[in-house]
Amino acid sequence: MITKVASDVGRIFLLVCLVFSVPPCSTTFRLTSPWGWRCINETCVKQENDGVRSLADLSTCKLTCGQDSTIWPSPTGFLKIAPQTVHFLLESLTLRGITAPTDQVKELVEKAFHIFRDNVGKNIPEGGGKATVMGPFHKQVTSHRVFVAVTVTGRVTRLSLETSEAYTLGITTRGDVTNATVLAGDFFGARHALETLSQLIEYDELAGVLQIVSTAAVVDAPVYKYRGILLDTSRNFFSVRAIERTLDAMAASKLNTLHWHITDTHSFPLYLESLPRMAFFGAYSPREIYRAADVRHLVEYGRVRGVRVLPEFPAPAHAGNGWQWAQKQGLGKLGVCLNQEPWQSYCVEPPCGQLNIINNNTYNILAQIYKELLDIFSPLDLFHFGGSKVNLNCWNTTEEIVAHLEKEGHGRDHESFYRLWGSFQKSALDLLTQANQGKQIPGILWTSQLTEKDRIESHLDPQQYIIQILTNRTDKMIKSLLTKGYRVIFSNQDAWNLGCGFGNLSPSGKSWCINYKGWQAVYDNSPNNISATLTGSSHRNLILGGEAVLWSHHVDDTTLDSKLWPRGAALAERLWTNPDTNWEAAETRFVHHRQRLVRRGIMAQRVQPEWCRQNEGHCYL
Ligand SMILES: *[C@@H]1O[C@H](CO)[C@@H](O)[C@H](O)[C@H]1NC(C)=O
Ligand SMILES: *[C@@H]1O[C@H](CO)[C@@H](O)[C@H](O)[C@H]1NC(C)=O
Ligand SMILES: *[C@@H]1O[C@H](CO)[C@@H](O)[C@H](O)[C@H]1NC(C)=O
Ligand SMILES: *[C@@H]1O[C@H](CO)[C@@H](O)[C@H](O)[C@H]1NC(C)=O
Ligand SMILES: *[C@@H]1O[C@H](CO)[C@@H](O)[C@H](O)[C@H]1NC(C)=O
Ligand SMILES: *[C@@H]1O[C@H](CO)[C@@H](O)[C@H](O)[C@H]1NC(C)=O
Repeated sequence: MITKVASDVGRIFLLVCLVFSVPPCSTTFRLTSPWGWRCINETCVKQENDGVRSLADLSTCKLTCGQDSTIWPSPTGFLKIAPQTVHFLLESLTLRGITAPTDQVKELVEKAFHIFRDNVGKNIPEGGGKATVMGPFHKQVTSHRVFVAVTVTGRVTRLSLETSEAYTLGITTRGDVTNATVLAGDFFGARHALETLSQLIEYDELAGVLQIVSTAAVVDAPVYKYRGILLDTSRNFFSVRAIERTLDAMAASKLNTLHWHITDTHSFPLYLESLPRMAFFGAYSPREIYRAADVRHLVEYGRVRGVRVLPEFPAPAHAGNGWQWAQKQGLGKLGVCLNQEPWQSYCVEPPCGQLNIINNNTYNILAQIYKELLDIFSPLDLFHFGGSKVNLNCWNTTEEIVAHLEKEGHGRDHESFYRLWGSFQKSALDLLTQANQGKQIPGILWTSQLTEKDRIESHLDPQQYIIQILTNRTDKMIKSLLTKGYRVIFSNQDAWNLGCGFGNLSPSGKSWCINYKGWQAVYDNSPNNISATLTGSSHRNLILGGEAVLWSHHVDDTTLDSKLWPRGAALAERLWTNPDTNWEAAETRFVHHRQRLVRRGIMAQRVQPEWCRQNEGHCYL
């Protein structure tokens, strides 16, 4: 109550300045606008300031008006936010203390706090945040202190499918002190709490300084464990800076997995110290590579932001450029059908290429690659083997593979090739396990011919593999996977392919990728409901989560942000909150979150004219 009164005194003072422009304020106050917002029935209504009623600026109103405030994604547990705010200066925002079981956890929290504070600072526009307004309000603002105290009870420093990521956040204000208290069972939950806290702070355009809600209680945890974005750096190269930006935006939306589709047939941008020839032959240019130091940097950059960087090394298909060197070195062909024409006969899009899975050297090289991947992405809790779309005609027209089948007494029918593929996958898993000192890592595979209902059980153990669904929501394969007990990650392409809508992805492109998937379609895609529709059960224990994929046919650094954001944030709320409601109930907060991403340096696409943001609820279609 005290703060409410204090805050009102400040406001009234400001309004007097605004309307009468008298000293002392006339020289220091930046006259801004005759407009302000009032919270009426959980909606911010734009009104003209008349100097009598106290109106708020838009951010202040949104922060304090309505159930979910401006938090994105919406918390799943208890949430209560007082409709008052208190003003403070960035320099008064400090860490009071960290309670953690180990120094490693403490260090992570320190790093997360610095990122949090940095993000809070990004709310302040150039020239703002200096409390230039004189008078009692100035005194109140400059003397107000905001303390953050963080308690983490668990020792976990790496995300896994067992990490809870849950947290509670409390904010209390008395006199000139605001305390924010974070409690979490693991570092990742604490990090999310700081993200939520940053979203309860906004810049007040009228006062020219930051403000925080005076009182709040948040209890929150994600519905799904796996919340991802796929980035493909083979079709086009992305700078380390662009990937950092992607991780920043993921952290802002509490997504937790950057699935890095590093290589493909197009290019091999990963510089492996044990096999430098791969990038030498496979990179688009000597500059367009990721060195071990870049990878380690990104893995750590993600970790302190609550995001695992998960490598995908596609095999046996989607492997081509980069593998040419081996023959000259006397290892025989490790890749077959490389850049072969006419491509339509040997792959789904140019350039073609598949591994030569009957050459023993292929396995030796793969073992080296896995070893180095494990080292630079260390330690991995999941690994993506790729495993999509093998073109049988490629292998069936490769003499040594055909000869091998004959020698082994097998035919050239489909199942013979699938058996060969299945045994390759088994070897790949063994090699990865060996490279990891005998400790098995759960492997992810795309849906493919190998995951079809009559084939999957003879090749893939549900205890070892997680299947990522790359088909559409009506595909019967989803039902067979769930009823057979496979854990799945949803990436159904009819909603969660963010590359669609810019022409076909490949010359043989499917019709489902003609249309752009708007944020509404992304938001409304519910894995639970898809499962319920297909199988009659929501299969909550088998659905680990979901991922939006961005194959980079039509994107590089220049348009990355606008392709991923803010649609990636729509995915984030579906996976964190899994609301029963659809996009309409989330629209106002979504638009606000988009502004937040932009303030943090993400070139997120606009969703509406600014007028709609300022006039909530009037842009219904
Ligand atoms: C507030 O909004 C609800 C739901 O939209 C509506 O039923 C109610 O009449 C509104 N109340 C006022 C005072 O406008
Ligand atoms: C803030 O925390 C400190 C230290 O725990 C405590 O002494 C103080 O009373 C708290 N103030 C408020 C407003 O919660
Ligand atoms: C490949 O390895 C297998 C199993 O170790 C072995 O039986 C076979 O002779 C090897 N083939 C060649 C060409 O070295
Ligand atoms: C492989 O090629 C042979 C000879 O053309 C053909 O009989 C066989 O059906 C082909 N196998 C597959 C799986 O296409
Ligand atoms: C969905 O996928 C299945 C299997 O790939 C296909 O048969 C069907 O035509 C697709 N439906 C749509 C609407 O794209
Ligand atoms: C999912 O299904 C439930 C139960 O039928 C329904 O209440 C909810 O609105 C659906 N969610 C979406 C996003 O369609």
